[in-house]
Amino acid sequence: MSGEQKGGLEDVVVSTSGICFIDGNEGRLVYRGYDVNELVERSSFEEVVFLLWHGDLPSRNALAAHTRALTSTANRRLPPKLIDILRALPRRTAPMDVLRTGVSVLAAFDPDGGDNSRDATLRKSIRLTAQLPTLVAAWERVRRGRPPVTPTPRLGLAGNFLYMLSGKTPTALAVKTFDVGLILHADHEFNASTFAARVTAATMSDVHSAITSAIGALRGPLHGGANEQVMRMVEQIRTPERAEDWIRKALADKARVMGFGHRVYRVEDPRARHLRRLAGELGRQVGDTGAVEILDTVARVVSADKHLHPNVDLYSGAAYASMGIPTDQFTPIFAISRVAGWTAHVMEQHGNNRLIRPRADYTGPTRLSYVPADRR
Ligand code: SDX
Repeated sequence: MSGEQKGGLEDVVVSTSGICFIDGNEGRLVYRGYDVNELVERSSFEEVVFLLWHGDLPSRNALAAHTRALTSTANRRLPPKLIDILRALPRRTAPMDVLRTGVSVLAAFDPDGGDNSRDATLRKSIRLTAQLPTLVAAWERVRRGRPPVTPTPRLGLAGNFLYMLSGKTPTALAVKTFDVGLILHADHEFNASTFAARVTAATMSDVHSAITSAIGALRGPLHGGANEQVMRMVEQIRTPERAEDWIRKALADKARVMGFGHRVYRVEDPRARHLRRLAGELGRQVGDTGAVEILDTVARVVSADKHLHPNVDLYSGAAYASMGIPTDQFTPIFAISRVAGWTAHVMEQHGNNRLIRPRADYTGPTRLSYVPADRR
């Protein structure tokens, strides 16, 4: 059956792209030709952002200039009026809603607003990639009645985010773990949120509008929202001893288990094992490996009974929870990484654009005659 007949554009190839390659049968993820396993071991998120945007690894000087741009206080800082808006929002507002709102407000204050040239879009992409961590951390502080923490130029993107969340300098393990998490989430071909960004960019709309579209798509529990749902499942299971009975009952009830399955991967998502390793290391560091033990039991049963494999969302939350990050901030963290891929795809779409406008297989009547209301 073709993708259209299964629905959801399954297996439908809609356009070419040189940014990200996924081999769903081999379980391979490649950014601009480089295997993500090698990038995790040898690169940094800042360098991966350059790779996604510019198509190859930077020279030492180019990386230094790029890193300075991504970590400069001027580019990280939020407009004061946006902080005022955060303070005006109800404190119960979901962080993903704050992120979506905040990106729209950033567009209004961006000095390159209205300029869709490649150079302007690159400058806006640098600012968005630098500002999103500040926005997510600022909301975390404001909703708890605390003042936002000013970004520090002495830390890279991963370390500075953890610092702005807590006001304390993070451990080297936490920074490394978080940086690996950012690399693993940076891009993933035409996933739902990236495709939403490309559809928006294909109308020649601006990068802030495209990122707002992407955030709306990522929010859904079938996509980026799954990592939050996984941790809610762990909270319901509570202890490793209860995990096997709990998941067997859930499967018997035909429940959809978050963190498992994938539209493209037919084997384990290559990102899952890195996140499982990091979640285990962090859990041991903080003396609590319960979440990973629970997830390992769930994975054993779901894989054996449903032949479904873990995806990127299964262990990421356990790693973030070990860093003291609240559950409803897990999807915003997905976004502060994926904004690198989203902006890369916007620039690729703008660079060789044709409006994305598919057809529908219409199932209704086509020649009805109008009947006045008093005769219906
Ligand atoms: C991400 O696309 C990307 O690249 C996304 C992403 C990225 O980096 O951008 O990788 C990030 O979104 C990862 C996925 C996170 N979502 C979840 O973990 C939610 C749970 N997973 C599922 O809802 C599901 O696996 C999807 C949405 C991820 C993929 O679903 P498909 O391809 O539409 O498959 P389907 O829903 O048609 O399911 C096929 C069969 C069904 O059984 P039958 O009805 O045919 O008997 O598999 C079953 C489903 O019931 N199934 C599951 C399941 N996933 C599929 N059953 C229980 N639990 C699951 N998680």
